[in-house]
Amino acid sequence: MSSTTATATACGKILLFGEHAVVHGQPAIAIGLPDGATATARRATDGLSRLRVAAWGLDVVPGRDDERESLARALGALLAAMHIDEPLDVELTLALPVGVGLGSSAALGIAAARAIANLVGRTLEVDALVELGFAWEGVFHGTPSGIDHTAAARGGVFLFRRPAQPGARPTIEPLVLAEPLELVVAVAGPASSTREMVAAVTTRVERDPAAREAVDEIGRIVEQARALLARPGSSARLGELMNRNHALLDLLGVNTPALETACQRARQAGALGAKVTGAGGGGCIVALSAPGRHAAIVDALRGVCPEVLCRTLSS
Ligand code: PMV
Repeated sequence: MSSTTATATACGKILLFGEHAVVHGQPAIAIGLPDGATATARRATDGLSRLRVAAWGLDVVPGRDDERESLARALGALLAAMHIDEPLDVELTLALPVGVGLGSSAALGIAAARAIANLVGRTLEVDALVELGFAWEGVFHGTPSGIDHTAAARGGVFLFRRPAQPGARPTIEPLVLAEPLELVVAVAGPASSTREMVAAVTTRVERDPAAREAVDEIGRIVEQARALLARPGSSARLGELMNRNHALLDLLGVNTPALETACQRARQAGALGAKVTGAGGGGCIVALSAPGRHAAIVDALRGVCPEVLCRTLSS
């Protein structure tokens, strides 16, 4: 008999380069944030599967509350994809702000899949977890590239390219950093809908050759950044690439005045580069600090952003 309670965790993420372009076949570079989500799964005693998020006062039943709450639909989709037919109670906690481009929904889904698998005595490899992440994320997202749930499942720093054919495996290349990166992430705008932002960029890319060219240039930036991350003494050049990636995201229509102000403040305070991270339209920026400028950047961003997180990354 397997246990009656199982707990598991999953990572959030920062996209260092390549968001949106990754949906259109270009590579992107992601960094897993270990402080993502935690899920606890239990066998239900009242015959109904439930999903609870205590911090949000949320308690929903898949099939009953789907119209009202997409998380109920997401748990229903996950249980169906896992072929679970016994009722389970899943409780989620999140250590990251929601809907601001830090991969919160993928982290919740992957943590839930892991906890359920642990409860029923199954072992899930990263590939299988990522597949389940698609079932969960599809509810929030529509056409996810898969980068968020890959980061949630595997963590670390990696280059990701979505498969050309649906159902095929993405290309994932773990990256080793030559030097630690001091990053400052700031929540600049309100939460936004990844589904809506991805749909808007896709329309633009289909209609406007300049947007198509921006996507291709972002792909070239990612390839350059991949090489620079492995080379000591490259942080100034990496910062320039972040600034250029930001300008191209602006051209794709996902920048906002609040995100722009945050990027400019970060650069004025000593960031080597700063850009929108995630789907944009609100959400977060990520800045790369010059040596010794970290505290000044945090101070400058605290003046304009409700939340600022700092991460030093090494590998
Ligand atoms: O959900 P977000 O804000 O972390 O954005 C995900 C990254 C996108 O490239 C915009 C979408 C995707 O599926 O890759």
